[in-house]
Amino acid sequence: MKPHYHVITLFPEMFTALSGFGVSGRALRNGLCDLKLWDPREFTQDAYRTVDDRPFGGGPGMLMLAEPLDLALTAAKTALRAAGVDQSRMVYLSPQGRRLDHALVLELATEPGLILLAGRYEGIDERVFQRHPLEEVSIGDYVLSGGELPAMVLLDSVIRHLPGALGDADSAKEDSFADGLLDCPHYTRPEDYQGLKVPPVLLSGNHAAIRRWRLKQALGRTWQRRPDLLQDRRLSPEEQDLLDE
Ligand code: ADE
Repeated sequence: MKPHYHVITLFPEMFTALSGFGVSGRALRNGLCDLKLWDPREFTQDAYRTVDDRPFGGGPGMLMLAEPLDLALTAAKTALRAAGVDQSRMVYLSPQGRRLDHALVLELATEPGLILLAGRYEGIDERVFQRHPLEEVSIGDYVLSGGELPAMVLLDSVIRHLPGALGDADSAKEDSFADGLLDCPHYTRPEDYQGLKVPPVLLSGNHAAIRRWRLKQALGRTWQRRPDLLQDRRLSPEEQDLLDE
């Protein structure tokens, strides 16, 4: 069954950036997954459709009210259950969360459904966490003005792992991080651009040599730019060999 993704957001229109373009747009159009957007304003009871208020105890900014979020999350859960998904992970995008990385993306890509809560303002009323088992996920140590971009980052990274989302030729298995290493350099035509030449091995037709060159480049880059990635990763005998060369 295709995965169902539900997002609670005050700005559903922003998600056309995900649904209208590129790999994620094609995956949604081809029915590889489903995206449903829920606007908390639709779950308000007052004439002004209020979704925020000032924090008790004072302080800057506004907070999102518990009730519209609670009702929107419940509606998403009910819709998922109707689609046959009884249990789903619920994620609140926030800088306080577990950092999104390749391992978490792979985990989320196996889920039959996800409910994402994108916040605005200074945050959400803490009691929403007491009503729903929300995991917090961060896309990095910086603060954005809302959870929509992080939710799209998460969904884009998850959708590219769904079977059929990428052509076989550019399967996600070839992505950076798939093997725990950064990507190698890439070249396309022309062979000589303003005197800058493509490394001859890539024109050699020797597939074993090309694979070894790429692996060596990936190892070198990772060692130079992200030595932390190599810290808790075992080198294969071939990789050790390449480093010793
Ligand atoms: N909301 C605001 N900043 C964020 C971040 N860095 N990650 C996830 N959600 C956020």
